[in-house]
Amino acid sequence: MSQNQVQDTLRDTLVELDKRHFIHPTSSLKQQHTSGAPFIFTEGKGVYLTDISGKKVLEGMSSLWNVNVGYGRKELAEAAREQMEKLAFTNSFSSFSNEPAIRLAAKLAQITPGDLNAVFFTSGGSESNDTAYKLVRHYWKLKGQPQKTKIISRKKGYHGVNIGATSATGISPFQEMTSSLAPDFLHVDPFSIEALKECIAREGADNIAAFVAEPVQGAGGVNIAPDGYFQEVRKICDEHHILFIADEVITGFGRTGKLFACEHYNVVPDVMLLAKGITSGYIQLGAVMLTERIHKELIDLSDGVLLHGYTYSGHATACAVALKNIEILENENLVENARLMGEELLKGFKAIQAEIAIVGEVRGLGLIGAVEIINPVTNSRFPTLLSPKVSAEAANRGLIVRTVGFEGMDTVVFSPPLVINKQEITELLSILRDSLLAVQKNLAD
Ligand SMILES: Cc1ncc(COP(=O)(O)O)c(C=O)c1O
Repeated sequence: MSQNQVQDTLRDTLVELDKRHFIHPTSSLKQQHTSGAPFIFTEGKGVYLTDISGKKVLEGMSSLWNVNVGYGRKELAEAAREQMEKLAFTNSFSSFSNEPAIRLAAKLAQITPGDLNAVFFTSGGSESNDTAYKLVRHYWKLKGQPQKTKIISRKKGYHGVNIGATSATGISPFQEMTSSLAPDFLHVDPFSIEALKECIAREGADNIAAFVAEPVQGAGGVNIAPDGYFQEVRKICDEHHILFIADEVITGFGRTGKLFACEHYNVVPDVMLLAKGITSGYIQLGAVMLTERIHKELIDLSDGVLLHGYTYSGHATACAVALKNIEILENENLVENARLMGEELLKGFKAIQAEIAIVGEVRGLGLIGAVEIINPVTNSRFPTLLSPKVSAEAANRGLIVRTVGFEGMDTVVFSPPLVINKQEITELLSILRDSLLAVQKNLAD
């Protein structure tokens, strides 16, 4: 057998095993079971991935908005190896501790805005959300206000898939897949201060524990707040003694051209949720940051053991990788690169918008962006979603993007690794343009 035949046989075997045994997260079970995985990736370098057939693609999404420092980083593998050889894991329950977790907690305190100085570690974004919802309610309980239980989140917001995080998520299909959600979650329009005020007036501030929002909504279509929105949110939360939770799971660690997106708005939340870019996806880790004031009150009012902790909270190897990942972000000025390359990306989107009729609004902040597809005649979405067609055309041409097709949207979203350079941005834009033109031409035919 030739090398190619061996490779094809291996691919076919893996596709069959994948179909039979691997339930893919957030996927069409039927489609996966019939067509199989279109890509089985085997290697990554910088902004590119290579699949088992040798096809190389530009990863326009950093996988799930998270591989911030790009693929194939030997330094991160080395950090994990060194730590695993010394001490891969030990639990952090009770008073046990380990050096990477301590050093990472101190580093996060140093780099996050304001007095967000205390950290609870999780294994990902959903766990960070559920942890925050429990902690804020615990906080109010200790403060003698146990009725402050409600969490206000926003329509089109995405916060993960644990039961609390699903309940906070404001994208209906995620909620509708299961029959029973957690109580005490309310959803308001994403950028309406009036809606937030009305909700508080209706429910009563004395019953509301927290307001949670992504500084830039990611999975809901890359929706960027208008000027002044988050400053106003901060003021309202302060006035009503409602804690403000910023879900920076996507936006943290440089994605938007600032280390944390809250810095765009000069707002310090009471609680900040982190995951994804904290390790650039090389290993699972999440974090919940609390302000010094809340941390102190939790200590002072503490009435026993804080009965909340994951086996992997403060995982030594994950924390060692995160420390090295942050060092890379800093040493290579990747936050500034995200800002500069983000400007190039948005400029390119605007040029495409001017040229191609089916392109509606385009958006971007740093290296997170979106291109809406619209019917130019009606100025609204086509009856059949076109963004998946754009994504398929792009994949054929060597670019991975993601689409958002719920809540009336037909949107292609982007979130390339922060290491992307000008030439790679040009390549991304060129493939996007060709893919959009191909879809537009098919419409006309
Ligand atoms: C803003 C936000 N919060 C939370 C999550 C959930 O994170 P995870 O998938 O790591 O549980 C996500 C995942 O995409 C997210 O985008």
